[in-house]
Amino acid sequence: MKKNKISIYGLTLFLLCCKSVTAKSQTSVTPESKEAYRQRMEWFDEAKLGIFIHWGIYSVDGVSESWSFYNNRIPYDQYMEQRKHFKAENYDPKQWVELIKESGAKYTVLTTKHHDGFALWDTKAGSLSAKKSSPAKRDLIAPFAEEVRKQGLKLGLYYSLLDWSNENYPNHTRTTSRYDIKKDPKRWEKFCKFNFSQMGELNETFKPDLYWFDGDWEQKAEDWNSSGIIKLLRSTNPNVIVNSRIQGYGDYATPEIGVPVVRPKNRYWELCYTINDSWGYQPGDTNFKTPQMLLSTFVDCLSMGGNLLLDIGPEADGTIPQEEVEVLKTFGRWTSKHKEAIYKTRAGIPGNYFNGYTTLNKAGDVLYLYMPYKPIGSVPLKGIINEVKKVWVVGSGEALHYKLYNKLSWSEVPGIIYIDVPENVQDPNITVVAVQLDGPIKLYGGEGQVITSN
Ligand code: GLC
Repeated sequence: MKKNKISIYGLTLFLLCCKSVTAKSQTSVTPESKEAYRQRMEWFDEAKLGIFIHWGIYSVDGVSESWSFYNNRIPYDQYMEQRKHFKAENYDPKQWVELIKESGAKYTVLTTKHHDGFALWDTKAGSLSAKKSSPAKRDLIAPFAEEVRKQGLKLGLYYSLLDWSNENYPNHTRTTSRYDIKKDPKRWEKFCKFNFSQMGELNETFKPDLYWFDGDWEQKAEDWNSSGIIKLLRSTNPNVIVNSRIQGYGDYATPEIGVPVVRPKNRYWELCYTINDSWGYQPGDTNFKTPQMLLSTFVDCLSMGGNLLLDIGPEADGTIPQEEVEVLKTFGRWTSKHKEAIYKTRAGIPGNYFNGYTTLNKAGDVLYLYMPYKPIGSVPLKGIINEVKKVWVVGSGEALHYKLYNKLSWSEVPGIIYIDVPENVQDPNITVVAVQLDGPIKLYGGEGQVITSN
Protein backbone atom coordinates (compact mmCIF):
# COMPACT_ATOMS: atom_id res chain seq x y z
CA MET A 1 0.00 0.00 0.00
CA LYS A 2 1.23 3.49 -0.78
CA LYS A 3 1.78 5.44 2.42
CA ASN A 4 -0.32 8.55 2.66
CA LYS A 5 0.51 11.05 5.33
CA ILE A 6 -2.60 11.96 7.22
CA SER A 7 -2.70 15.49 8.46
CA ILE A 8 -5.42 16.71 10.79
CA TYR A 9 -7.10 18.05 7.70
CA GLY A 10 -6.63 14.65 6.08
CA LEU A 11 -8.39 13.00 9.02
CA THR A 12 -11.43 15.14 8.47
CA LEU A 13 -11.35 14.04 4.88
CA PHE A 14 -11.08 10.46 5.97
CA LEU A 15 -14.25 10.78 7.97
CA LEU A 16 -16.04 12.23 4.98
CA CYS A 17 -14.83 9.48 2.75
CA CYS A 18 -15.69 6.70 5.15
CA LYS A 19 -19.25 7.67 4.57
CA SER A 20 -18.93 6.85 0.94
CA VAL A 21 -19.85 3.24 0.85
CA THR A 22 -23.62 3.31 1.11
CA ALA A 23 -26.11 5.62 -0.50
CA LYS A 24 -27.74 6.31 2.85
CA SER A 25 -24.60 7.85 4.26
CA GLN A 26 -24.23 10.50 1.53
CA THR A 27 -23.45 13.89 3.03
CA SER A 28 -26.08 16.26 1.75
CA VAL A 29 -25.08 19.31 -0.24
CA THR A 30 -26.52 22.54 1.11
CA PRO A 31 -29.30 23.64 -1.21
CA GLU A 32 -28.69 26.81 -3.16
CA SER A 33 -31.25 29.30 -4.45
CA LYS A 34 -31.67 29.71 -8.21
CA GLU A 35 -30.33 33.23 -7.92
CA ALA A 36 -27.24 32.16 -5.96
CA TYR A 37 -26.56 29.50 -8.60
CA ARG A 38 -26.96 32.06 -11.38
CA GLN A 39 -24.52 34.40 -9.66
CA ARG A 40 -22.01 31.63 -9.08
CA MET A 41 -22.19 30.67 -12.77
CA GLU A 42 -22.00 34.22 -14.09
CA TRP A 43 -18.31 34.39 -14.98
CA PHE A 44 -18.52 31.00 -16.66
CA ASP A 45 -21.57 32.03 -18.65
CA GLU A 46 -19.78 35.11 -19.93
CA ALA A 47 -16.40 33.48 -20.50
CA LYS A 48 -17.41 31.59 -23.68
CA LEU A 49 -13.94 30.37 -24.52
CA GLY A 50 -11.66 28.24 -22.39
CA ILE A 51 -8.41 26.44 -23.21
CA PHE A 52 -8.03 22.86 -22.04
CA ILE A 53 -4.50 21.52 -21.57
CA HIS A 54 -3.72 17.82 -21.50
CA TRP A 55 -0.17 17.43 -20.29
CA GLY A 56 1.40 14.38 -18.74
CA ILE A 57 3.91 11.58 -19.20
CA TYR A 58 2.02 10.32 -22.25
CA SER A 59 3.54 13.20 -24.22
CA VAL A 60 7.01 11.56 -23.95
CA ASP A 61 6.24 8.80 -26.47
CA GLY A 62 3.25 10.65 -27.87
CA VAL A 63 0.76 7.90 -27.02
CA SER A 64 -2.87 8.26 -26.04
CA GLU A 65 -3.26 9.58 -22.49
CA SER A 66 -3.82 6.71 -20.05
CA TRP A 67 -6.04 4.83 -22.50
CA SER A 68 -3.03 3.37 -24.33
CA PHE A 69 -2.24 1.03 -21.43
CA TYR A 70 -5.85 0.63 -20.27
CA ASN A 71 -6.78 -0.62 -23.74
CA ASN A 72 -3.67 -2.84 -23.81
CA ARG A 73 -2.14 -1.03 -26.76
CA ILE A 74 1.12 -0.95 -24.80
CA PRO A 75 2.07 -2.72 -21.56
CA TYR A 76 1.51 -0.76 -18.35
CA ASP A 77 5.19 -0.82 -17.41
CA GLN A 78 6.21 0.54 -20.78
CA TYR A 79 3.66 3.33 -20.42
CA MET A 80 4.95 4.22 -16.96
CA GLU A 81 8.57 4.23 -18.17
CA GLN A 82 7.71 7.49 -19.90
CA ARG A 83 7.84 9.25 -16.57
CA LYS A 84 11.59 8.73 -16.47
CA HIS A 85 11.89 11.03 -19.47
CA PHE A 86 9.33 13.63 -18.50
CA LYS A 87 11.59 16.64 -17.93
CA ALA A 88 9.46 19.68 -18.73
CA GLU A 89 12.74 21.44 -19.43
CA ASN A 90 11.29 24.17 -21.65
CA TYR A 91 8.09 24.66 -19.67
CA ASP A 92 7.28 28.34 -19.58
CA PRO A 93 3.93 28.86 -17.83
CA LYS A 94 4.12 32.60 -18.43
CA GLN A 95 4.29 32.03 -22.18
CA TRP A 96 1.51 29.43 -22.04
CA VAL A 97 -0.81 31.79 -20.22
CA GLU A 98 0.08 34.71 -22.50
CA LEU A 99 -0.91 32.63 -25.52
CA ILE A 100 -4.10 31.44 -23.85
CA LYS A 101 -4.99 35.00 -22.96
CA GLU A 102 -4.20 36.18 -26.47
CA SER A 103 -6.67 33.61 -27.88
CA GLY A 104 -9.49 35.43 -26.10
CA ALA A 105 -10.09 32.63 -23.61
CA LYS A 106 -11.21 33.73 -20.16
CA TYR A 107 -10.40 30.48 -18.40
CA THR A 108 -8.11 27.52 -18.74
CA VAL A 109 -8.27 23.97 -17.43
CA LEU A 110 -5.06 22.01 -16.87
CA THR A 111 -4.81 18.28 -16.14
CA THR A 112 -3.53 17.87 -12.59
CA LYS A 113 -3.86 14.09 -12.84
CA HIS A 114 -5.17 11.95 -15.67
CA HIS A 115 -6.49 8.39 -15.36
CA ASP A 116 -2.88 7.11 -15.18
CA GLY A 117 -2.53 8.61 -11.69
CA PHE A 118 0.55 10.72 -12.43
CA ALA A 119 0.11 13.99 -10.50
CA LEU A 120 1.55 17.19 -11.91
CA TRP A 121 1.48 18.92 -8.57
CA ASP A 122 3.55 18.04 -5.52
CA THR A 123 1.00 15.77 -3.89
CA LYS A 124 1.61 14.55 -0.37
CA ALA A 125 -0.70 11.61 -1.02
CA GLY A 126 1.38 9.03 -2.81
CA SER A 127 4.62 9.29 -4.72
CA LEU A 128 3.48 9.17 -8.32
CA SER A 129 4.11 12.77 -9.25
CA ALA A 130 6.23 15.04 -11.42
CA LYS A 131 8.11 16.10 -8.32
CA LYS A 132 8.79 12.67 -6.85
CA SER A 133 8.94 10.32 -9.78
CA SER A 134 10.14 12.17 -12.86
CA PRO A 135 13.21 14.18 -13.84
CA ALA A 136 10.97 17.27 -13.98
CA LYS A 137 11.46 17.14 -10.18
CA ARG A 138 9.06 19.96 -9.41
CA ASP A 139 5.48 21.03 -8.97
CA LEU A 140 4.22 21.92 -12.45
CA ILE A 141 0.80 23.19 -11.41
CA ALA A 142 1.90 25.83 -8.90
CA PRO A 143 3.69 28.16 -11.37
CA PHE A 144 0.86 27.78 -13.85
CA ALA A 145 -1.78 28.63 -11.25
CA GLU A 146 0.25 31.66 -10.25
CA GLU A 147 0.51 32.91 -13.84
CA VAL A 148 -3.19 32.34 -14.51
CA ARG A 149 -4.02 34.54 -11.52
CA LYS A 150 -1.43 37.13 -12.45
CA GLN A 151 -2.80 37.45 -15.97
CA GLY A 152 -6.39 37.68 -14.76
CA LEU A 153 -7.83 34.43 -16.09
CA LYS A 154 -9.97 31.92 -14.22
CA LEU A 155 -8.27 28.72 -13.13
CA GLY A 156 -9.76 25.31 -13.83
CA LEU A 157 -8.21 22.05 -12.65
CA TYR A 158 -8.88 18.73 -14.32
CA TYR A 159 -8.82 15.79 -11.92
CA SER A 160 -9.50 12.17 -12.78
CA LEU A 161 -11.59 10.57 -10.05
CA LEU A 162 -10.52 7.14 -11.19
CA ASP A 163 -6.87 6.22 -10.90
CA TRP A 164 -5.83 3.09 -12.78
CA SER A 165 -2.38 3.12 -11.15
CA ASN A 166 -3.49 3.23 -7.54
CA GLU A 167 -3.24 -0.19 -5.93
CA ASN A 168 -6.50 0.39 -4.08
CA TYR A 169 -8.42 1.34 -7.19
CA PRO A 170 -10.42 -1.66 -8.47
CA ASN A 171 -9.75 -1.33 -12.21
CA HIS A 172 -6.31 -1.48 -13.77
CA THR A 173 -6.77 -2.19 -17.46
CA ARG A 174 -9.73 -3.19 -19.60
CA THR A 175 -8.86 -6.83 -18.97
CA THR A 176 -7.40 -6.80 -15.46
CA SER A 177 -9.16 -5.79 -12.30
CA ARG A 178 -7.74 -5.74 -8.77
CA TYR A 179 -10.83 -6.45 -6.70
CA ASP A 180 -14.54 -5.86 -6.35
CA ILE A 181 -15.47 -2.90 -4.15
CA LYS A 182 -18.64 -4.58 -2.93
CA LYS A 183 -16.58 -7.49 -1.66
CA ASP A 184 -13.84 -5.39 -0.11
CA PRO A 185 -15.34 -2.06 1.01
CA LYS A 186 -12.43 -1.39 3.38
CA ARG A 187 -10.01 -1.36 0.48
CA TRP A 188 -12.31 0.98 -1.41
CA GLU A 189 -12.38 3.26 1.64
CA LYS A 190 -8.60 3.45 1.46
CA PHE A 191 -8.87 4.63 -2.10
CA CYS A 192 -11.53 7.20 -1.16
CA LYS A 193 -9.26 8.48 1.58
CA PHE A 194 -6.47 8.92 -0.93
CA ASN A 195 -8.77 10.64 -3.44
CA PHE A 196 -10.17 12.99 -0.82
CA SER A 197 -6.65 13.84 0.35
CA GLN A 198 -5.60 14.76 -3.17
CA MET A 199 -8.72 16.83 -3.81
CA GLY A 200 -8.29 18.52 -0.45
CA GLU A 201 -4.70 19.44 -1.37
CA LEU A 202 -5.75 20.91 -4.71
CA ASN A 203 -8.55 22.84 -3.09
CA GLU A 204 -6.41 24.24 -0.29
CA THR A 205 -3.34 24.97 -2.36
CA PHE A 206 -4.74 26.37 -5.56
CA LYS A 207 -8.29 27.43 -4.72
CA PRO A 208 -9.38 26.91 -8.33
CA ASP A 209 -12.41 28.62 -9.83
CA LEU A 210 -13.50 25.41 -11.50
CA TYR A 211 -13.01 21.65 -11.22
CA TRP A 212 -13.14 19.53 -14.31
CA PHE A 213 -13.70 16.02 -13.02
CA ASP A 214 -13.39 13.04 -15.29
CA GLY A 215 -13.63 9.26 -15.11
CA ASP A 216 -16.76 9.22 -12.96
CA TRP A 217 -18.39 6.61 -15.18
CA GLU A 218 -16.62 3.73 -13.45
CA GLN A 219 -18.40 4.12 -10.10
CA LYS A 220 -21.71 5.37 -8.75
CA ALA A 221 -22.30 8.68 -6.96
CA GLU A 222 -22.62 6.99 -3.58
CA ASP A 223 -19.33 5.15 -4.07
CA TRP A 224 -17.40 8.25 -5.09
CA ASN A 225 -19.30 10.09 -2.34
CA SER A 226 -20.01 12.80 -4.88
CA SER A 227 -21.99 14.89 -2.42
CA GLY A 228 -19.12 14.62 0.08
CA ILE A 229 -16.70 15.81 -2.61
CA ILE A 230 -18.86 18.84 -3.40
CA LYS A 231 -19.13 19.58 0.31
CA LEU A 232 -15.39 19.31 0.76
CA LEU A 233 -14.64 21.62 -2.16
CA ARG A 234 -17.21 24.19 -1.13
CA SER A 235 -16.12 24.15 2.50
CA THR A 236 -13.15 26.38 1.72
CA ASN A 237 -14.03 27.40 -1.81
CA PRO A 238 -17.74 28.24 -1.71
CA ASN A 239 -18.09 29.68 -5.21
CA VAL A 240 -16.26 26.93 -7.03
CA ILE A 241 -17.86 25.60 -10.22
CA VAL A 242 -17.84 21.87 -10.87
CA ASN A 243 -18.43 20.16 -14.22
CA SER A 244 -21.02 17.42 -14.54
CA ARG A 245 -18.69 14.41 -14.49
CA ILE A 246 -19.33 13.60 -10.88
CA GLN A 247 -22.44 11.48 -11.23
CA GLY A 248 -25.22 14.00 -11.05
CA TYR A 249 -23.70 16.66 -8.81
CA GLY A 250 -22.14 19.08 -11.27
CA ASP A 251 -23.04 22.61 -12.33
CA TYR A 252 -22.81 22.28 -16.10
CA ALA A 253 -22.88 19.74 -18.91
CA THR A 254 -19.79 18.68 -20.87
CA PRO A 255 -20.58 17.28 -24.32
CA GLU A 256 -17.34 15.92 -25.75
CA ILE A 257 -16.09 16.40 -29.34
CA GLY A 258 -19.51 15.70 -30.92
CA VAL A 259 -20.92 19.18 -31.49
CA PRO A 260 -24.54 19.42 -30.26
CA VAL A 261 -27.09 19.73 -33.03
CA VAL A 262 -29.87 21.03 -30.82
CA ARG A 263 -29.36 23.34 -27.89
CA PRO A 264 -28.46 21.27 -24.80
CA LYS A 265 -31.19 21.22 -22.15
CA ASN A 266 -28.81 22.21 -19.38
CA ARG A 267 -28.71 26.00 -19.04
CA TYR A 268 -24.92 25.92 -18.75
CA TRP A 269 -22.77 23.76 -20.97
CA GLU A 270 -19.35 23.56 -22.53
CA LEU A 271 -18.17 21.58 -25.53
CA CYS A 272 -14.72 20.11 -24.95
CA TYR A 273 -13.01 19.80 -28.26
CA THR A 274 -9.74 18.68 -29.79
CA ILE A 275 -7.79 20.49 -32.53
CA ASN A 276 -6.69 17.19 -34.11
CA ASP A 277 -8.15 13.90 -32.82
CA SER A 278 -6.11 13.71 -29.61
CA TRP A 279 -6.22 15.36 -26.20
CA GLY A 280 -2.53 14.95 -25.43
CA TYR A 281 0.50 15.44 -27.68
CA GLN A 282 0.52 12.81 -30.41
CA PRO A 283 2.85 13.72 -33.27
CA GLY A 284 1.41 10.87 -35.36
CA ASP A 285 -1.98 12.54 -35.36
CA THR A 286 -1.92 15.19 -38.07
CA ASN A 287 -5.66 15.33 -38.55
CA PHE A 288 -5.84 19.00 -37.62
CA LYS A 289 -9.02 20.96 -38.12
CA THR A 290 -8.39 24.33 -39.71
CA PRO A 291 -8.63 27.53 -37.65
CA GLN A 292 -11.67 28.38 -39.78
CA MET A 293 -13.43 25.13 -38.86
CA LEU A 294 -12.63 25.65 -35.20
CA LEU A 295 -13.83 29.26 -35.17
CA SER A 296 -17.01 28.16 -36.85
CA THR A 297 -17.58 25.56 -34.11
CA PHE A 298 -16.90 28.23 -31.51
CA VAL A 299 -19.62 30.41 -33.02
CA ASP A 300 -21.91 27.36 -33.25
CA CYS A 301 -21.50 26.95 -29.47
CA LEU A 302 -22.13 30.65 -28.87
CA SER A 303 -25.32 30.45 -30.93
CA MET A 304 -26.61 27.71 -28.62
CA GLY A 305 -25.60 29.58 -25.47
CA GLY A 306 -22.62 27.37 -24.64
CA ASN A 307 -18.86 27.60 -24.16
CA LEU A 308 -16.05 26.03 -26.15
CA LEU A 309 -13.21 24.41 -24.22
CA LEU A 310 -10.56 24.01 -26.89
CA ASP A 311 -7.79 21.57 -26.11
CA ILE A 312 -4.04 21.79 -26.64
CA GLY A 313 -1.49 19.05 -25.92
CA PRO A 314 2.02 20.32 -25.14
CA GLU A 315 5.10 18.20 -25.77
CA ALA A 316 6.98 16.59 -22.88
CA ASP A 317 9.44 19.49 -22.71
CA GLY A 318 6.58 21.99 -22.43
CA THR A 319 6.54 23.19 -26.05
CA ILE A 320 3.11 23.91 -27.49
CA PRO A 321 2.95 22.44 -31.02
CA GLN A 322 3.10 25.08 -33.73
CA GLU A 323 -0.22 24.05 -35.31
CA GLU A 324 -1.94 24.73 -31.98
CA VAL A 325 -0.14 28.05 -31.50
CA GLU A 326 -1.47 29.12 -34.89
CA VAL A 327 -5.03 28.16 -33.99
CA LEU A 328 -4.85 30.14 -30.76
CA LYS A 329 -3.43 33.15 -32.57
CA THR A 330 -6.17 33.05 -35.20
CA PHE A 331 -8.72 32.88 -32.40
CA GLY A 332 -6.97 35.87 -30.84
CA ARG A 333 -7.25 38.01 -33.93
CA TRP A 334 -10.93 37.15 -34.38
CA THR A 335 -12.02 37.38 -30.73
CA SER A 336 -10.29 40.71 -30.09
CA LYS A 337 -12.13 42.23 -33.06
CA HIS A 338 -15.53 40.76 -32.17
CA LYS A 339 -15.61 41.05 -28.35
CA GLU A 340 -18.99 42.77 -28.48
CA ALA A 341 -20.53 39.71 -30.12
CA ILE A 342 -18.88 37.11 -27.90
CA TYR A 343 -18.67 37.55 -24.15
CA LYS A 344 -21.97 39.01 -23.11
CA THR A 345 -24.15 37.21 -25.57
CA ARG A 346 -26.73 34.50 -25.11
CA ALA A 347 -28.21 31.89 -27.46
CA GLY A 348 -29.62 33.27 -30.69
CA ILE A 349 -32.69 32.49 -32.78
CA PRO A 350 -33.56 29.32 -34.72
CA GLY A 351 -31.81 28.69 -38.03
CA ASN A 352 -34.93 29.17 -40.16
CA TYR A 353 -34.81 32.94 -39.57
CA PHE A 354 -31.25 33.39 -40.74
CA ASN A 355 -28.87 31.27 -42.75
CA GLY A 356 -25.95 31.28 -40.34
CA TYR A 357 -25.33 31.43 -36.59
CA THR A 358 -26.93 34.06 -34.35
CA THR A 359 -26.72 35.30 -30.76
CA LEU A 360 -28.46 38.07 -28.83
CA ASN A 361 -27.15 40.64 -26.40
CA LYS A 362 -28.40 40.35 -22.82
CA ALA A 363 -31.26 42.82 -23.34
CA GLY A 364 -32.35 40.84 -26.41
CA ASP A 365 -32.54 43.92 -28.62
CA VAL A 366 -29.33 43.39 -30.60
CA LEU A 367 -29.18 40.36 -32.85
CA TYR A 368 -25.73 39.28 -33.99
CA LEU A 369 -25.43 37.47 -37.31
CA TYR A 370 -22.31 35.35 -37.93
CA MET A 371 -21.32 34.45 -41.46
CA PRO A 372 -18.65 31.78 -41.72
CA TYR A 373 -18.94 32.13 -45.51
CA LYS A 374 -18.67 34.83 -48.16
CA PRO A 375 -22.09 36.33 -48.69
CA ILE A 376 -23.17 36.71 -52.32
CA GLY A 377 -25.17 39.89 -52.70
CA SER A 378 -27.34 40.83 -49.74
CA VAL A 379 -28.15 38.60 -46.82
CA PRO A 380 -31.80 37.85 -45.88
CA LEU A 381 -33.21 37.88 -42.36
CA LYS A 382 -36.87 36.97 -41.99
CA GLY A 383 -39.61 36.59 -39.41
CA ILE A 384 -38.50 39.49 -37.20
CA ILE A 385 -41.57 41.39 -35.94
CA ASN A 386 -39.53 44.29 -34.54
CA GLU A 387 -38.56 47.36 -36.42
CA VAL A 388 -34.86 47.44 -37.30
CA LYS A 389 -33.18 50.65 -36.15
CA LYS A 390 -29.65 50.18 -37.36
CA VAL A 391 -27.30 47.58 -38.80
CA TRP A 392 -23.52 47.65 -38.46
CA VAL A 393 -20.39 45.55 -38.88
CA VAL A 394 -19.04 44.32 -35.56
CA GLY A 395 -15.41 45.33 -35.19
CA SER A 396 -15.41 48.45 -37.34
CA GLY A 397 -18.86 49.78 -36.43
CA GLU A 398 -19.44 50.64 -40.08
CA ALA A 399 -23.15 51.13 -40.81
CA LEU A 400 -24.63 48.78 -43.41
CA HIS A 401 -27.40 49.43 -45.85
CA TYR A 402 -30.52 47.30 -45.39
CA LYS A 403 -34.01 47.26 -46.81
CA LEU A 404 -37.28 45.66 -45.81
CA TYR A 405 -39.19 43.83 -48.56
CA ASN A 406 -42.63 42.15 -48.58
CA LYS A 407 -44.14 43.93 -45.60
CA LEU A 408 -47.80 43.88 -46.58
CA SER A 409 -50.36 46.04 -44.81
CA TRP A 410 -52.95 43.22 -44.60
CA SER A 411 -50.55 40.56 -43.35
CA GLU A 412 -49.03 39.93 -39.97
CA VAL A 413 -46.10 38.14 -41.59
CA PRO A 414 -43.04 40.35 -41.16
CA GLY A 415 -41.17 41.08 -44.36
CA ILE A 416 -37.66 40.04 -45.27
CA ILE A 417 -34.79 42.34 -44.34
CA TYR A 418 -32.01 42.26 -46.91
CA ILE A 419 -28.66 43.45 -45.56
CA ASP A 420 -25.85 44.44 -47.88
CA VAL A 421 -22.53 42.96 -46.75
CA PRO A 422 -20.02 44.27 -49.30
CA GLU A 423 -16.71 42.53 -49.74
CA ASN A 424 -14.68 45.35 -48.21
CA VAL A 425 -16.34 44.89 -44.79
CA GLN A 426 -16.01 41.12 -44.72
CA ASP A 427 -13.78 39.40 -42.18
CA PRO A 428 -11.26 36.84 -43.49
CA ASN A 429 -12.80 34.24 -41.16
CA ILE A 430 -16.29 35.07 -39.92
CA THR A 431 -18.06 38.36 -40.60
CA VAL A 432 -20.35 39.51 -37.81
CA VAL A 433 -23.22 41.92 -38.36
CA ALA A 434 -25.21 43.52 -35.54
CA VAL A 435 -28.90 44.33 -35.97
CA GLN A 436 -30.33 46.87 -33.50
CA LEU A 437 -34.04 46.28 -32.90
CA ASP A 438 -36.64 48.60 -31.38
CA GLY A 439 -36.92 46.38 -28.29
CA PRO A 440 -36.48 42.78 -27.16
CA ILE A 441 -36.72 40.49 -30.18
CA LYS A 442 -40.14 39.20 -31.23
CA LEU A 443 -40.30 36.36 -33.73
CA TYR A 444 -43.09 35.45 -36.09
CA GLY A 445 -43.73 31.75 -35.91
CA GLY A 446 -46.49 31.21 -38.45
CA GLU A 447 -46.90 29.51 -41.81
CA GLY A 448 -47.66 32.63 -43.84
CA GLN A 449 -51.07 34.10 -44.61
CA VAL A 450 -53.63 34.19 -47.42
CA ILE A 451 -55.14 37.57 -48.35
CA THR A 452 -58.62 38.32 -46.95
CA SER A 453 -58.86 42.04 -47.69
CA ASN A 454 -56.63 44.63 -49.28
C1 GLC B 1 -12.47 11.53 -21.82
C2 GLC B 1 -11.19 10.76 -21.72
C3 GLC B 1 -10.01 11.56 -21.46
C4 GLC B 1 -10.03 13.01 -21.75
C5 GLC B 1 -11.37 13.62 -21.51
C6 GLC B 1 -11.46 15.05 -21.93
O1 GLC B 1 -13.30 11.37 -20.77
O2 GLC B 1 -11.22 9.76 -20.77
O3 GLC B 1 -8.89 10.93 -21.96
O4 GLC B 1 -9.15 13.59 -20.89
O5 GLC B 1 -12.36 12.90 -22.11
O6 GLC B 1 -12.74 15.46 -22.12
